Amino acid sequence: MSEVNLMDLYPKAKRDLEHRATVSEENRRIAKMFSREFFDGTRDQGYGGYKYDGRWVPVVARMRDHYRLAPNASILDVGCGKGFMLHDFKLAMPSCTVAGLDISAYAVEHAMEDVKPFLLVGNCRRLPYADHSFDLVVSINTVHNLKRDECWQAIREIERVGRRHKFIVVDAYSNEQEKERMLKWNLTAETILHVDDWETLFTEAGYTGDYHWFTP
Ligand SMILES: C[S@@+](CC[C@H](N)C(=O)[O-])C[C@H]1O[C@@H](n2cnc3c(N)ncnc32)[C@H](O)[C@@H]1O
Repeated sequence: MSEVNLMDLYPKAKRDLEHRATVSEENRRIAKMFSREFFDGTRDQGYGGYKYDGRWVPVVARMRDHYRLAPNASILDVGCGKGFMLHDFKLAMPSCTVAGLDISAYAVEHAMEDVKPFLLVGNCRRLPYADHSFDLVVSINTVHNLKRDECWQAIREIERVGRRHKFIVVDAYSNEQEKERMLKWNLTAETILHVDDWETLFTEAGYTGDYHWFTP
């Protein structure tokens, strides 16, 4: 288990933290439903229009190279949204097999056509896959949307279905300034922890994969 930044090539976004901190409780409630409004509603409710733009292309190349994935590797994205990252894995590694799971029926319904047949609607607390099914399990900014004990369940599930590499990214902070920024920016996360507390939780859950932190 180790911290590794495989997100360093993900495009940096400009974030208006001060505005985000003013988002209404109603918009926060709507965002947490992960339905149309979260993906394709206003910026106060989520992404403000989640369209394919190739942002995962350099990230998947980074993962492929870091883990030396075989061309026919099997890859699961836990919290796959509209399948953009999985689509980019197929571009980078046409012989790979992909699977994705997301809590949003809207996202899966509006997923990219090439990967849509491999996506399921579900909660990452319970992954409907056999033990050791995937060479790589990735979960970006998804697990923290659960309560702490449910995060533990999701992390255990990721560990169970992976057979080799696992990579989780969650909201985290390592000092008071980062914590303040995170609390301003957060819309949907239920569990935002200090990096040391996440590491404790990973250990408690028996996680052996890698991880990195999202800090706005
Ligand atoms: C940062 S997005 C993932 C982006 C995605 N990897 C892509 O390729 O675009 C996080 C996703 O987690 C999903 N999500 C939130 N809570 C979840 C849960 N409990 N179980 C599964 N998915 C969840 C959201 O619907 C959202 O699509």
